[in-house]
Amino acid sequence: MQTLKDKVILITGANRGIGKSLVKASLEKGARKIYATSRNLSKMPNFGDDRVETLELDITDNAQTLKVAEKTKDVEVLINNAGVLSQGNVLEGEISAVENDMKVNYYGTINMMRAFAPILEKNAPSKIVNIVSIVAYSPLPSLAGYSASKTALYSATLSVRTELAKKGVTVHAINPGAIDTDMNKGSEWDMPAPDGIAKIILDKVEAGELDIVPDEMGLGMFNAWKEAPSKLAEMFSNMYHGE
Ligand SMILES: NC(=O)c1ccc[n+]([C@@H]2O[C@H](COP(=O)([O-])OP(=O)(O)OC[C@H]3O[C@@H](n4cnc5c(N)ncnc54)[C@H](OP(=O)(O)O)[C@@H]3O)[C@@H](O)[C@H]2O)c1
Repeated sequence: MQTLKDKVILITGANRGIGKSLVKASLEKGARKIYATSRNLSKMPNFGDDRVETLELDITDNAQTLKVAEKTKDVEVLINNAGVLSQGNVLEGEISAVENDMKVNYYGTINMMRAFAPILEKNAPSKIVNIVSIVAYSPLPSLAGYSASKTALYSATLSVRTELAKKGVTVHAINPGAIDTDMNKGSEWDMPAPDGIAKIILDKVEAGELDIVPDEMGLGMFNAWKEAPSKLAEMFSNMYHGE
């Protein structure tokens, strides 16, 4: 068990959704300090705990990422949670939306890993926790740009896992199905709340699981993919065609 108690944790996109829940769950785990980052600090909730320090950070702004890394050299656990989702398929979706999904979810997150790797190596044993998605295993065609960005991010996560394997930095991938956050606004699916999911994520990180699917819907999809990748593709095809 690699406990998160007394650890220094940095979380991106901490102002709402899963990120906000991860701050609360980290406090409950007994973290020593939490850098809760957001691209707009006026949107940050008051966590009511002195262990939380808020910092402005847009993960697509490289200079700002490096500036934050300079100020947070004690980080032992980096949680790359920030992300965006655009609707649209490959053939007709807006290319600018596809580019933005890649810019934030893939390039933004790899820039975070590049900026923090030296810090995490120095503070080893340490961790990177990337919030990816179940669509990393198979694309949901109505979210084609998002799916591609998360597949790319999952690939980068696995690369960095190997790159840092002998340096005391464990790299986890979190691949949720569907969680009840703003990202799924308007959906009629029955989805779990992010607070419970954040606790499950941190429990599984502490238990040393590397590839984590924290919700039931995600697990159903993951198990279908494990049985045969074509099974998850078929599930997503049925969703796409409304069957
Ligand atoms: N909800 C799900 O079903 C689900 C499933 C699988 C994976 N995920 C992943 O889980 C993560 C959290 O999503 P969520 O469901 O909590 O969504 P959310 O409620 O929409 O929150 C997204 C967070 O990311 C932040 N963000 C967006 N672009 C950013 C940037 N350039 N720099 C820094 N922060 C940025 C947002 O900040 P602003 O408030 O400033 O926009 C917000 O804090 C994402 O990576 C998402 O892809 C979610």
